[in-house]
Amino acid sequence: LASPILLKKGKVFVLDQRLLPNEIKYREIGSADDGFDAIARMIVRGAPLIGITAFYALAAEAARPRATADRLFQKAERLNSARPTAVNLNAAVAAFTSILKEHAGERDFGKKAMKAAAEFHQREVGASEAIGRHGAALIKKNSSILTYCNAGALAAPDFGTALSVIFEARRMKKVSRVYTCETRPYLQGMRLTAFELSAAKIPFRVICDNTAGFLMKKGMVDAVVVGADRIALNGDTANKIGTFTLAVLARHHGIPFYVAAPRTTIDSSIRDGSQIPIEERDDSELLKIAGKRVAPRGASGLYYGFDVTDASLITAVITEKGVVTPVNRTGLRKLLEAV
Ligand code: MRU
Repeated sequence: LASPILLKKGKVFVLDQRLLPNEIKYREIGSADDGFDAIARMIVRGAPLIGITAFYALAAEAARPRATADRLFQKAERLNSARPTAVNLNAAVAAFTSILKEHAGERDFGKKAMKAAAEFHQREVGASEAIGRHGAALIKKNSSILTYCNAGALAAPDFGTALSVIFEARRMKKVSRVYTCETRPYLQGMRLTAFELSAAKIPFRVICDNTAGFLMKKGMVDAVVVGADRIALNGDTANKIGTFTLAVLARHHGIPFYVAAPRTTIDSSIRDGSQIPIEERDDSELLKIAGKRVAPRGASGLYYGFDVTDASLITAVITEKGVVTPVNRTGLRKLLEAV
């Protein structure tokens, strides 16, 4: 599988995920503005990868000849607004600005920032691997698992979050098949998750989003595993639009619903899901299919990128530090304090 982010001779390149699975093309991230552009235009996407890309973009900016502390703070503020829901972006920008405050003006600050970005990246890689180990223990033998959007290595290098759980459980011979919802309108499930499952040779079927309830009713789904973009302190979880619908369906059918995410996705400053900012994207992404307008002229769309699943619908939150169940403030606080 092509890596979503590459470092070559001190330069940073990201895989253009808009072109997958048909084309493998990398773009250089040589400045904070390149990072903003890549994140806002969904060249890179997925909460952990957005954070990692932002950190490298700011480090690249810091290494530019005319970088000053003031300019870097301004660029960091702009980058922080590239997409609103995934808190990993804010966590990465905050980590960069904290080293900037400490080391601003030092001659080798660019190098220091690049080293810090690489460390941040490596921590996320370690987290994604550990999530797989913790989560796989929850999966029962011979399971058919349903997943949504793309929470694989393309979104969270190097192992994914939800897909890290599924891959590890498959390695333990517990997964017989995976259903990946296409995930309208951006099709992360059909384009990206299917690409990853196919590369890993895991038996899978792509389903359209509105098939999930029918499969559950027929007893064809044993567990749902999804990623997250921001988890409030009480466990309410923002993830790709449509996740909440799946959680309600899973509860109705008595199917466990798991959220897999690194520690950086938990926002301890937010009490509950009502405070999570939800991205609203341009309706052209909804009204066009494969670049061609399908809706009649004059129709306008309403395209929220994410929804919030109530903590009470989530069986467990799987992190690199362990599993939180039941999902509530006490459990998440305990996990955060243990970090
Ligand atoms: O709009 P996207 O593609 O950035 O949304 C991605 C998701 O919703 C993922 O499920 C989430 O970021 C978890 S990634 C490991």
